[in-house]
Amino acid sequence: MEAEEERFPRLRQVLLFVLLAHSCAEQEVYRIAEETESGSFVANLAKDIGLGVKELSWRRARIIFNDDKKHFQLNLQTGDLQINEKLDREELCGSTEPCVLQFQVLLEEPLEVYRYKLLVSDINDNSPVFPESEMILKIMENTLPGTVFPLKNAQDLDVGINNIQNYTIYPNSHFHVLTRNSGEGRKYPELVLDKALDREEQPELRLTLLAVDGGVPPKTGTALVLIDVLDINDNAPEFVQPLYRAQILENSPLGSLIVTVSARDLDTGTNGKVFYSFFYGDEEISRTFALNELTGEIKIIRELDFEKIMSYELDIKASDGAGLSGKCTVIIEVVDINDNTPELTMASLISSIPENSPETTIALFSIQDRDSGENGRMFCSIQEDVPFTLKPSLENFYKLVTEGALDRESQAEYNITITVSDLGTPRLQTQHTITVTVSDVNDNAPAFSQTTYTLRVRENNSPALHIGTVSATDRDAGANAQVTYSLLPPRDPQLPLASLVSINADNGQLFALRSLDYEALQAFEVRVGAADRGSPALSSQALVRVLVLDDNDNAPFVLYPLQNGSAPCTELVPRAAEAGYLVTKVVAVDGDSGQNAWLSFQLLKATEPGLFGVWAHNGEVRTARLLSERDAVRHRLLVLVKDNGEPPLSASVTLHVLLVDGFSQPYLPLPDVAAAEARADPLTVYLVIALASVSSLFLCSALAFVAVRLCRRSGAASGGGCAVPEGHFPGHLVDVSGAGTLSQSYQYEVYREESGTKEFKFLKSVAFT
Ligand SMILES: *[C@@H]1O[C@H](CO)[C@@H](O)[C@H](O)[C@H]1NC(C)=O
Ligand SMILES: *[C@@H]1O[C@H](CO)[C@@H](O)[C@H](O)[C@H]1NC(C)=O
Ligand SMILES: *[C@@H]1O[C@H](CO)[C@@H](O)[C@H](O)[C@H]1NC(C)=O
Repeated sequence: MEAEEERFPRLRQVLLFVLLAHSCAEQEVYRIAEETESGSFVANLAKDIGLGVKELSWRRARIIFNDDKKHFQLNLQTGDLQINEKLDREELCGSTEPCVLQFQVLLEEPLEVYRYKLLVSDINDNSPVFPESEMILKIMENTLPGTVFPLKNAQDLDVGINNIQNYTIYPNSHFHVLTRNSGEGRKYPELVLDKALDREEQPELRLTLLAVDGGVPPKTGTALVLIDVLDINDNAPEFVQPLYRAQILENSPLGSLIVTVSARDLDTGTNGKVFYSFFYGDEEISRTFALNELTGEIKIIRELDFEKIMSYELDIKASDGAGLSGKCTVIIEVVDINDNTPELTMASLISSIPENSPETTIALFSIQDRDSGENGRMFCSIQEDVPFTLKPSLENFYKLVTEGALDRESQAEYNITITVSDLGTPRLQTQHTITVTVSDVNDNAPAFSQTTYTLRVRENNSPALHIGTVSATDRDAGANAQVTYSLLPPRDPQLPLASLVSINADNGQLFALRSLDYEALQAFEVRVGAADRGSPALSSQALVRVLVLDDNDNAPFVLYPLQNGSAPCTELVPRAAEAGYLVTKVVAVDGDSGQNAWLSFQLLKATEPGLFGVWAHNGEVRTARLLSERDAVRHRLLVLVKDNGEPPLSASVTLHVLLVDGFSQPYLPLPDVAAAEARADPLTVYLVIALASVSSLFLCSALAFVAVRLCRRSGAASGGGCAVPEGHFPGHLVDVSGAGTLSQSYQYEVYREESGTKEFKFLKSVAFT
């Protein structure tokens, strides 16, 4: 403080403000740049005032500011005026230029005041600043070049040259900036359009506005200028592709999406909103396809048929809200699918052919398929188990022909299924069945069920008796199969066929015309013919063998002894005959055969029962015991001969037996025949007796011989035993069947000799082998 008072001796004395006003006589101006470091030297006051350094402190020099701020201090040792703190011109003066700080230097004793001015000069310490960092401008895209748009200016706290000098903009593709001066020297920017804008190309521009001040180096400030280019309808809708091609299967369901057309409009809003429509009002197209006016989708709304229309060409218009439009073409190809079955058209057809016809065309037909490609290629077939073949004829024509002659009798009707299929996927096929009937030709003769028929007829039949039926069948049909029967001329011309049998021409029934007699005709053969009514007729024949069956219609007939005899036969038996002496043998025949001819003999009545016996099976009459003197001379035996028929028939025979005393005894004629035999020659009688005896002996030996032979033969043939079947041929019977011959291989023949007045009977036996 003391130093200060030394330097400013007068200052203390003139603290009165009154004095101050009077002593401000001279003014010095100092200069200092703002922002100079504190402590920096401004000026040497001591020298400027003209005082010594000591005087300053002695006179107590001090600095007084107008604004009570101590911007400076006075170094009393050196007399230098030094900056107390950094000075900011902008704070001190704002935009006022020049910026002057006024201060006084006060000296006491004597009071002196010196006025000073400090000029604070500007340095470029502030950058231009835009009040808004972002500016938005909306500009119609059709704005003409040269149009000016004012922009907000930036501010720079610096003054003078350090203030904003220039505005620029970048990128400057469409604009440049003009820097304008306002009346107060403020500079503001104006945006000038250089080149027409295109929203579609660049809907928004981002520009940087740069404000440059004039400092060295210059400082800059920036702001963003957003330019919104406003749309005008300056673009027509444009299709992405001028030509669309699409393929669609013809069986695609309704509503299927075929293709989506798309047009772009570079404009926005209603200017860019695209509506699609058909270009021409073609009814066929608008009934087949639906176009979504917003999305551009094309869909089917009616079934497609490749066979009718193979492709469509659609012109489609796209219009925007303001009436501009574009056009494209859509070609829709319908892809064939196999949706048509092949068709068969019969051109000619024969439904019936004769069975023996050679290769014949039955049918001629054509096939077609409305599909295309593989879907329309066809092949044709029939089943394999029929004797027919298909032959390709002209294009798509086929012939169905027989493979050869047919046989109606093995198959009379054919169902031929013609299958036509195409090669598409899936395969479609059509079938056509034709029925061919094979008509009959008379190629089969009637055929008898048997080649030989054996018919049996019991004799004594009633006339016109149905004796059997022959039948023949014919495999043909109709009249060709109608069989008529007839009798053919017999091989044996003697056979009175016409009177024996007849045949029903229609049904083959055979009738015996008259009563047949087994004994007269045991069998005969007839040839029957069967003919059909074809043209020419065919025929065949069969043999009918008719066997007449025996009936027991003949009673046994006694051959020996003769019974109608006017001269009854008398057997002589010597009294000396031993028991079993063969008196005689009753010989009988039966016209029937078989059982009906099996005879048995039976002694029915005798004068003296027990003296004679009859052997049932051979009719031998023998003595049963020794004869005695008491026995009567004459005996009468009644022998019954019976056959084995059903019912049996019989005959009886009466035997006269005369007992004689040796053969020397004279023959005694019976009373009833005495008259006839009276004239008999005794020699003849002896001859007869001798013959009879010899015959009887011979007969016995022959019987024995034959029996031995028979047994040997049948033994050799059958291995033993006698050939007579036990059940069939009872031992007590003798079979004499067959035209009066005796069975068992021997036969009696009766010869009747007549001599003068007498009949002689003798029996001669002939052995058969
Ligand atoms: C402003 O800046 C532009 C480009 O930077 C320049 O061409 C022009 O001369 C400057 N104008 C002034 C007044 O400095
Ligand atoms: C042929 O077809 C008809 C009718 O379907 C049938 O009655 C007949 O039996 C068939 N014929 C043959 C030989 O299959
Ligand atoms: C006795 O019968 C036989 C044969 O039937 C016959 O030939 C003969 O004439 C008959 N005799 C008399 C006398 O009737």
